[in-house]
Amino acid sequence: MNLRMRAYDPFDARDVVALWDRCLRADPITREIFEENVLLDPNFDPTGCRVAELGSSMIGFAYALTRRTPLPWGFESEFERDREVGWVFALFVEEAHRRQGIGSELLQEALEFLRAKGVRRVVLGNYAPNYVLSGVDTQAYPGAQEFFVRHGFEVEGQSFGMGIDLHGFRRPPEAAETEQTLGREGIVVECFSRDYLLPTLAFLEECFPTWLSLLIEKLRRGDDHREMVIARRGTEVIGYCQRRYGHHAERTGPFGVRADFRGKRIGTLMLYHLLERMAEEGLRFGWFAQTGERQRHYYQRVGYRAIRTHVEMSRRL
Ligand SMILES: CC(C)(COP(=O)(O)OP(=O)(O)OC[C@H]1O[C@@H](n2cnc3c(N)ncnc32)[C@H](O)[C@@H]1OP(=O)(O)O)[C@@H](O)C(=O)NCCC(=O)NCCS
Repeated sequence: MNLRMRAYDPFDARDVVALWDRCLRADPITREIFEENVLLDPNFDPTGCRVAELGSSMIGFAYALTRRTPLPWGFESEFERDREVGWVFALFVEEAHRRQGIGSELLQEALEFLRAKGVRRVVLGNYAPNYVLSGVDTQAYPGAQEFFVRHGFEVEGQSFGMGIDLHGFRRPPEAAETEQTLGREGIVVECFSRDYLLPTLAFLEECFPTWLSLLIEKLRRGDDHREMVIARRGTEVIGYCQRRYGHHAERTGPFGVRADFRGKRIGTLMLYHLLERMAEEGLRFGWFAQTGERQRHYYQRVGYRAIRTHVEMSRRL
């Protein structure tokens, strides 16, 4: 049977999703997640997608992209920063056909696509805000790190996926003390409400512009306001966290506090608040896709534990 490499066809989505789920078992997706993060991304360019086909079966897939559109709101500075950056969003080969050079060929085609776009630095996964893979999970995907090293990628860092069991979750008693101490300073942690829409947007625009689209998307989608928690001093919003990231209802984060208010346990209180609402709604689990070494300890104090480790990889082109 003939092996051939070909361009993405509009009717490939079903096969790509099925192959993705067979190859990237620790990161399953659905048609909806594929649409949300790939096909509906304004930076999607089908020529960045390559398919390996044996006879009529899809056995490999690679997807690379660059930022062509400075969307969404809040990503203006990233657009400037990423002018010469490209991403290998995902690459996988059916297990029975590995170690035959197919992955290498797909990667070369992806790199050629990026080179033609003027890319000088290639990042694996981690395409904000629509990423699905946070890098290479070396435990779930043995050999993947070696594959990318063989192709000139270097390990840049490491991140952790964190998870928390929400069965019977309750904040610890000392949280009440923190709440009172903060209350004396006029700081309140509570669920988001419409009255605080503009102060929340102002806070995000100033402190975490790339999160603006997450809040806006949630409001447009009509998500329950209890999925978002704010910290405020008077009418000024100084912290924000949320759950449900696209189709992932149990995914918590991002969460952040204005720099001059850090170290007061405001973030911890916001997380407790969010997790309690999740437990009340019957959710059994909460997870963060990606945290660094320092934040990892922070989440551990709240009750999360590291459930995955990813290596972040990139290369010059
Ligand atoms: C990573 C992956 C795409 C590689 O595809 P592949 O077709 O097997 O890769 P190739 O045959 O082109 O391998 C090229 C070289 O990479 C290295 N390599 C590939 N797989 C390896 C493994 N399991 N262990 C060690 N080195 C490996 C080797 O140097 C290999 O050359 P060699 O076979 O002559 O020794 C494939 O293993 C896969 O689909 N894994 C699951 C999905 C995944 O983890 N994707 C990465 C995140 S997007």
